[in-house]
Amino acid sequence: SVVILDFGSQYTHLIARRIRELHAYSVVLPGPAPLERVRAHAPEAVVLSGGPSSVFDPAAMRPDEGVFGLGVPVLGICYGMQYLAQRFGGRVERGGRAEYGKAWLTRFEGPLFEGLSGEVQVWMSHADAVTELPPGWRAVAATEENPVAAIQDDAGRFFGVQFHPEVAHTPKGMTILENFLRVAGVRRDWTPDHALDAALEEVRGRAGGERVLLAVSGGVDSSTLALLLARAGVDHTAVFVDHGLLRLGEREEVERALASAGVNLVTVDARERFLAALEGVGDPEAKRKIIGREFVEVFKEQAARLGPFRFLAQGTLYPDVIESAGGTGAANIKSHHNVGGLPAELGFELLEPFRYLFKDEVRELGLLLGLPDTVRLRHPFPGPGLAIRILGPVDEEKLDILRRADDLFISALKDHGLYDEVWQALAVLTPVRSVGVTGDERRYGYVLALRAVTSVDGMTADWARLPHDFLDEVARKIPQRIPEIGRVVYDLTSKPPGTIEWE
Ligand code: XMP
Repeated sequence: SVVILDFGSQYTHLIARRIRELHAYSVVLPGPAPLERVRAHAPEAVVLSGGPSSVFDPAAMRPDEGVFGLGVPVLGICYGMQYLAQRFGGRVERGGRAEYGKAWLTRFEGPLFEGLSGEVQVWMSHADAVTELPPGWRAVAATEENPVAAIQDDAGRFFGVQFHPEVAHTPKGMTILENFLRVAGVRRDWTPDHALDAALEEVRGRAGGERVLLAVSGGVDSSTLALLLARAGVDHTAVFVDHGLLRLGEREEVERALASAGVNLVTVDARERFLAALEGVGDPEAKRKIIGREFVEVFKEQAARLGPFRFLAQGTLYPDVIESAGGTGAANIKSHHNVGGLPAELGFELLEPFRYLFKDEVRELGLLLGLPDTVRLRHPFPGPGLAIRILGPVDEEKLDILRRADDLFISALKDHGLYDEVWQALAVLTPVRSVGVTGDERRYGYVLALRAVTSVDGMTADWARLPHDFLDEVARKIPQRIPEIGRVVYDLTSKPPGTIEWE
């Protein structure tokens, strides 16, 4: 594996992803992780990430000294390179050579840059610079501003790059990372099949012969998890709570995708119960709390009815558990987010076979496990469902209107090949009514808002520049087919300041 020590760079997770894209397994550990923790991952190479600190700062994070005695190659990126330079007797200075943004290498040589030719654009973001090399080391790349843009030791075991090879603004960065893996002799066998075998082995090893409960939402993570348990031949029960806030045809789609693949699926029809609990409630936070509470109640009842179970399986992903300099120990806080603290309360042991996987890797597993693309490539959908897309109180009539409008919008996106171009698309039913005219008739219908965003992780988002002709078609079709809707608007708010959902 490749162990990435995180010194707080905003790009650390990207390094992990890039290395996995090169089919080498990678894990992120906190920068100062003790040697035993690094060793536990059988590292074939170590990467020191960038970070906001300066090597001069006495409080700056440092890797365990033992890392340099592991006998494996080390690549330092940005702060990581400066740390290497200083650690091995070179000199780092503040000021003078700061670089931010795009730069071009004026020269490059050596194994890290093998196979590169022509213009090599790199992304820089540093205030400090290496001004003197450690004895026996040499500079293997330079930019206009900076004669030390990359370094290596004489034995070819330690490397440093001042720029960020992991970001898109370093277009040939993958070649540089690949060269490092090659020089280090890192095994490149991390394929989806390998990930699947590892996940199957884990669930069989831990839960074979035991009973496992899981909650299925219809999203890609929980669906893939259900298929994994079925494929592993583990005694499992997948509970799918229909809270009545699902999209048109969603329940049937999930049932078809899972039950036919051998998942032991129990659908709980809790529609009336949720609607009753939500009746007359207009405050967004109150709605969310009620839905969360009801979900836990329903799930607990089912666990008691169908149990006992030893394990609760959850589709927790690596970004939720990465313990890094940016956010330490997320594992304990977030791993229960799907079912609101149930494991602790019911004394389940947790089974989280995806906790080292990224979302796209789970999608790959889904593919191998036969998850239909309708589920596998589906946009994210919030747990509280359509309830947070109906502003104000929720009732069956409004749900019905929104379900049909959402279906028209999403179907049109698919028909025009735009669905995969946007990160998420949704329709929001506002409580506002507005006057219009159809034929000779006055019409007084709801205002429906359409929203489509581009995003990488949902943390920030921009509104999608959907073609005007497409928007025009949808805006005509919706009031035509759904007379309760009188007006259609398109949401131009980015996140921040808006959120993706309206509530
Ligand atoms: P916001 O609205 O916060 O949404 O910009 C970011 C992403 O998270 C989804 N979302 C939720 N997902 N439970 C979920 O499982 C929730 O309560 C929830 N609220 C928002 C939202 O759809 C978007 O993808």
